Amino acid sequence: MSRPSAGTEDGGRTVADNGAVDLELDRAHSARMYDYYLGGTTNFPADREAAARARAAFPSLLATAAINRRFMHRSVRFLAREGMSQFLDIGTGIPTSPNLHEVAQTEDPRARVVYTDNDPIVLAHARALLQSRPEGRTAYVHADVTEPEALLAAEELGGTLDFARPIALSLNALLHFVTGDHRAHDIVELLKDALPSGSTLAIAHVTAEFDPEGITRLIDTYRTAGTLAQARTHDEIARFFEGWELFPPGIVPSHEWRPDPGDGSESVTNEVAACYVGVARKP
Ligand SMILES: C[S@@+](CC[C@H](N)C(=O)[O-])C[C@H]1O[C@@H](n2cnc3c(N)ncnc32)[C@H](O)[C@@H]1O
Repeated sequence: MSRPSAGTEDGGRTVADNGAVDLELDRAHSARMYDYYLGGTTNFPADREAAARARAAFPSLLATAAINRRFMHRSVRFLAREGMSQFLDIGTGIPTSPNLHEVAQTEDPRARVVYTDNDPIVLAHARALLQSRPEGRTAYVHADVTEPEALLAAEELGGTLDFARPIALSLNALLHFVTGDHRAHDIVELLKDALPSGSTLAIAHVTAEFDPEGITRLIDTYRTAGTLAQARTHDEIARFFEGWELFPPGIVPSHEWRPDPGDGSESVTNEVAACYVGVARKP
């Protein structure tokens, strides 16, 4: 089992363990492909070539990524307004402003956020995730969600978040990379069990229900590029929330989750959104 490594920022002090890392630039990485979809510059020829094949397979991919990212913004803002002040974000991705802590700390400058990803490129760029407001705190833990015990045991996690108080867990656009044998539902249950009453869970997940052929083609391009992925149905995604109370409107296509007036959501189709999302609270 790999030991999670970390960085923290606390009132201006930064400790980032981003020494020698193998970025595997010769092969595409999902984090760097996603960065490309969002218009970022932290991607390399192998990522861009794979991203081009993915776009050919599923032409609305850039819009899909942007719509997914906006769900993160809205759900974090909503949860901060509901009083959540501690966030654990797994599968963070390459920093893309506004990052989760920027949204949360706009609502509550004291918000504490722990970011986690298993891609070394995210660790290498973690500094941008560590620019906390002085009243709050952020930390980064390099860890794999398929080893949830190790992730939960990371020193910086326990040192940043108080597990006696509610924690907002987000697994956005992550679980479709946790396929088959990895037992995604068991992993999510283990994470849910570690959180106290009043904690919340936000999930965004690719589904093939709206465009089966397009999503099958898309997943094939990821597999060819070396990343396994899996779409799930509404029911399979609902199972991740089992035992927790969904906030209205429940599990819906990403653009339909509490859209902001005039944000263009009304012109988005389910086929383009391509993801189900939901947010729930632990009783
Ligand atoms: C599509 S990005 C989503 C980024 C961000 N959550 C969002 O929705 O905007 C998926 C991220 O999950 C990360 N990831 C994939 N498998 C993972 C795993 N087993 N453990 C931790 N992170 C993982 C990838 O490295 C990538 O950064």
